[in-house]
Amino acid sequence: MLLLSSPNMGGNELKYVTECITTGWVSSVGAFVNKFEEVTAEFTGASYAVATSSGTTALHTALVMLGVNHNDLVIVPNITFIASVNSIKYTGASPVLIDVNKDDWQMDLDLLEEFLKKETEVRNETCYHIKSGKRIPVIIPVHVLGNMCDMERLMELATQYHLAVLEDSTEALGSFFNGKHAGTFGLMGTFSYNGNKIITTGGGGMIVTNDEALAKRAKHLTTQAKADPFEYFHDETGYNYRLVNVAAAMGVAQMEQLPDFLKRKKEIIAFYKKELEGVGDISFQKVDARVNPNWWMPTIATEKQRIILEALNSNKMQSRPLWIPMNRLPMFKDDIYYQHSDISWFLYERCLSIPCSTNITDDDLRAVSDKIKGCFSK
Ligand SMILES: Cc1ncc(COP(=O)(O)O)c(C=O)c1O
Repeated sequence: MLLLSSPNMGGNELKYVTECITTGWVSSVGAFVNKFEEVTAEFTGASYAVATSSGTTALHTALVMLGVNHNDLVIVPNITFIASVNSIKYTGASPVLIDVNKDDWQMDLDLLEEFLKKETEVRNETCYHIKSGKRIPVIIPVHVLGNMCDMERLMELATQYHLAVLEDSTEALGSFFNGKHAGTFGLMGTFSYNGNKIITTGGGGMIVTNDEALAKRAKHLTTQAKADPFEYFHDETGYNYRLVNVAAAMGVAQMEQLPDFLKRKKEIIAFYKKELEGVGDISFQKVDARVNPNWWMPTIATEKQRIILEALNSNKMQSRPLWIPMNRLPMFKDDIYYQHSDISWFLYERCLSIPCSTNITDDDLRAVSDKIKGCFSK
């Protein structure tokens, strides 16, 4: 089976993991955890990085730190992986789902602005949803598939409406807007290292921030909020959300290869674009000139989506539709969905992600694109 996005473990992973096992430093205290945080901060340009057990726990921790609770609403795009919205629900808050843009598939900023203008009011430097009376303290832009929206405009809107920005950059390690790394625009950004991400630790995540107090609190909260080095004194309800050293060891080895992985992702998208653009109605996600995306997951849009999905998967070339829009899931069907023409559904019915592992061969890329082209020659 040619996997959609499989781990590429060709570097020092085994060496560093072996070091953890032979020294016994396998748990959440260990030099690789600190090292992984250091190299992530350096690569992203963030002042601080705090390693977590997953991207989901990174998001949950960040929302807890922003004081989000059951009286609140949190703004998020309607097209994302479920963890962005689940993490909001974990706090007791509810999402405001904003439809996405037809071109770049990110949160539609015109719709966002219209929602804020028409449906909210600012009192005492706090944004409230007029109809429900609920507070809207946070907005989560998700850098969907490693692409980014106009972060300048989003930050301006967030400032105007007093929204804290938490970037779900889980898919965007190596993506930049105007030369600034994803996850470093808002108060905090999060990353994921699950098996299909551009680098993986098997499972893992990270919070990045420029705020020292937030970084310290993140470390505290993710280690059960233990406030005394000797006694089991915990000063608040914390979580067991810290990354373990064995996983961080893989992360350090993966970060060493990230520049090569990014280069390969760019070659992969260039190949697919050259081969597939102009074939039938195939189109790709549009990218703002100011964005340099990591091209984590090449995805095409076409009316023949289901035919191509069948053709690829039945030929052992793993391919997947886009996530079902959040408003269509039973848990979120009663939450606010702000839209004009349900672009989320339009994209869901057309988009499919195609094999793009960083260790995919050129022959396999050709086999995939030939199979897709074949669906248009009948
Ligand atoms: C947009 C988005 N948010 C959150 C997550 C959650 O990350 P994790 O699987 O590491 O919990 C993922 C990845 O799966 C994701 O793609």
